[in-house]
Amino acid sequence: MDQLKGKKILIAVTGGIAAYKIPELTRLFIKAGCDVQVALTENAVRFVQPLTLETLTHHPVLMDDFILLDEGGIPHIEATAWCDILIVAPATGNVIGKAAAGIADDIVSTLLLAASRKPVLFAPAMNSRMYLNPVVKRNIALLREMGYHFIGPDEGEMACGEEGIGRLSDLTCIVEKVKDIFTVKDLQDLTILISAGPTQEPIDPVRFITNRSSGKMGYAIANAAKRRGGRVILVSGPTRLSVPKEGITLIRVKTALDMEREILEHFPYSDIVIMAAAVADYRTDKPFPQKLKKSDKSFKLELVRNPDILQALGTQKTHQILVGFAAETEKFEKNAIQKIKDKNLDLIVVNDVSQPDAGFEVDTNRIMLIDRFNKIRKFPLQSKEDAADTILDKILKIKRKVAG
Ligand code: C5P
Repeated sequence: MDQLKGKKILIAVTGGIAAYKIPELTRLFIKAGCDVQVALTENAVRFVQPLTLETLTHHPVLMDDFILLDEGGIPHIEATAWCDILIVAPATGNVIGKAAAGIADDIVSTLLLAASRKPVLFAPAMNSRMYLNPVVKRNIALLREMGYHFIGPDEGEMACGEEGIGRLSDLTCIVEKVKDIFTVKDLQDLTILISAGPTQEPIDPVRFITNRSSGKMGYAIANAAKRRGGRVILVSGPTRLSVPKEGITLIRVKTALDMEREILEHFPYSDIVIMAAAVADYRTDKPFPQKLKKSDKSFKLELVRNPDILQALGTQKTHQILVGFAAETEKFEKNAIQKIKDKNLDLIVVNDVSQPDAGFEVDTNRIMLIDRFNKIRKFPLQSKEDAADTILDKILKIKRKVAG
């Protein structure tokens, strides 16, 4: 589940100013449970101290290829046999050019040539005029075609003071990309439709009815499904979350009726549908066209029922695996089992929202999964990211069971 735990990461640093960020990148990988080794070119040493990296990684930094290791090993052969991935960060135009041409004349380019059986990720960083040079573009295209991975560069202010494309990718995005590379693509060729967040039902032009859903669980499922190779459509109510993973089709909606329209449109060709949204059960039939004034002591607001989207999907379903959520405060199992029957679901994810560390708004969840065969499994408190993978694992199990 945790794609990075126990992984051996070899980070090769070349001579760009962004090399000063590599101790922090190293720390992020170590925090995620990785064993990290670093190699520095002569020019990288000008920007970052080997001692800093040796202290963080508890490994000697590789700088000179022309020495034998303690047991007589050759540095570039030993290190590339040891690692699960080689990351070149920052990757200068120079090292990208050398890799594309097969040149091995320093420690990093030699590691690159020796890592032919390992995944390699380049995180380029250079002035935008260098990055946009057609020769660099050609080299990157060539390497991509050969199966090398790339992340970034990002746009923004560069060390030279110019604005443009060429900044080293955000460090957390580099870690995320490595996770992607290690993830088994078990959702390949499947379309996964996910709803997330609350809905907003307008009362007047400035007021609305909503709920405490943050959208975090639905977004975590969408990101995990994307990482696992799925085609992901995320229909999201209003949230404060950052845009989900690149490649996810994000459809923003406000009301339950908007959500219903979008979900029904994409439902027929979806393989897996996960309704993680907290859809408002009621709406005002006709929102007031003008802002309401406070005149009387009290006023009555008449509400009408929203359509139950999941219920409609249950009646229309053909081949889809249909997953619902239940935010409960009591009688979890009984209510959930009833909901599976009422809505014709394959799986229900039950959240105990009476606990402060699970359910709405927080980053963790304590879920219980009940499938349509009434098999119940309770999980301990986990991050919403881990809970997302737990849910997707279970969906795949059901899908395989149904198929045959
Ligand atoms: O019946 P209840 O609202 O507890 O069911 C929750 C499940 O139904 C969630 O998966 C939610 O996304 C979905 N739902 C829906 N349309 C509604 C209300 C809930 O699709 N109007």
